[in-house]
Amino acid sequence: MSKTGIKVFAPATVANMACGYDLMGFALERPGDEIIGRLVDNKPGVHITNIYGDKGKLSKETMQNTAGVAAQKFLDHIGDPSIGIEMEIYKKMPFGSGMGSSAASAAAGVMLANELLKRPLRKQELMPFAVAGEQVADGAYHADNVAPSLLGGIVFIRDNETLDFHRVSAPPGLYATLVHPHIRILTKDSRDILSDTVTLKQTITQNGNLGGLIIGLYKGDFDLIKRSLQDVIIEPQRAQLIPGFYDVKVAALQENVLGCSISGAGPSVFALSNNNLNAENAGHAMQRAFAKHKIESTVYISKINSEGAILY
Ligand code: HSE
Repeated sequence: MSKTGIKVFAPATVANMACGYDLMGFALERPGDEIIGRLVDNKPGVHITNIYGDKGKLSKETMQNTAGVAAQKFLDHIGDPSIGIEMEIYKKMPFGSGMGSSAASAAAGVMLANELLKRPLRKQELMPFAVAGEQVADGAYHADNVAPSLLGGIVFIRDNETLDFHRVSAPPGLYATLVHPHIRILTKDSRDILSDTVTLKQTITQNGNLGGLIIGLYKGDFDLIKRSLQDVIIEPQRAQLIPGFYDVKVAALQENVLGCSISGAGPSVFALSNNNLNAENAGHAMQRAFAKHKIESTVYISKINSEGAILY
């Protein structure tokens, strides 16, 4: 079999998009994880030979690594026990950041395996393997990071169990600001603090916002997007985990962004804007607000990445 390596990239993502907890997410252009891999003889299964950029924190055990699990589950599905794959993972973003780091590795892992086997499955068909891979990281089965990382764009998942997912169009001119404060929150911890119950009033408001967001995105109606980018259920519970969160949010809103909320499980905070200048100004303002709380941060400005995971 060919020993020639190939390289894949899968981007960071912003899950939840304020009002779509576990149901919505979009992909950034950068950063993202890279995996280089090759087919190997006489060594069946998936083997992780090296991980760079993780400060030794991630497991090289295939079934304890999101990329390893995603690729191995795909191989199990293909059903040829003789196939062997070696991969090296290049982590280009921190985990516990709210940027979909574990999902990007899972998406890249399964993408790599599919490409090495000359694409027996279409990209959409790789979803269950990638979601199973990400599940290793936080124990929950939700596709709001994996789907946009793999498929690109903005993705709405009507139901996570059956992976009933749908691409939502992104209006031209939509820019994302992502500010990553240099603290870590584990997704599991951020999920564990959430109350199991919500009021009828909260449910109605949140449903209204989610519907409004999707319609606003389809119609390119930025005013509707702005009215809808609000989370009355999850953000109020998680804000306490991010020092200075409300100051950062106010700083973003003062720069005329469409909305600002927690990215995924946090601690990163995102904003959406209808032009690049507002997105950049918001990034600086949000970074300054974190600095006032003595927290360093990294800012990313990006259009919505419509491609998702790619071979390159
Ligand atoms: N929807 C998930 C959450 C994304 O907010 O917990 C992070 O995995």
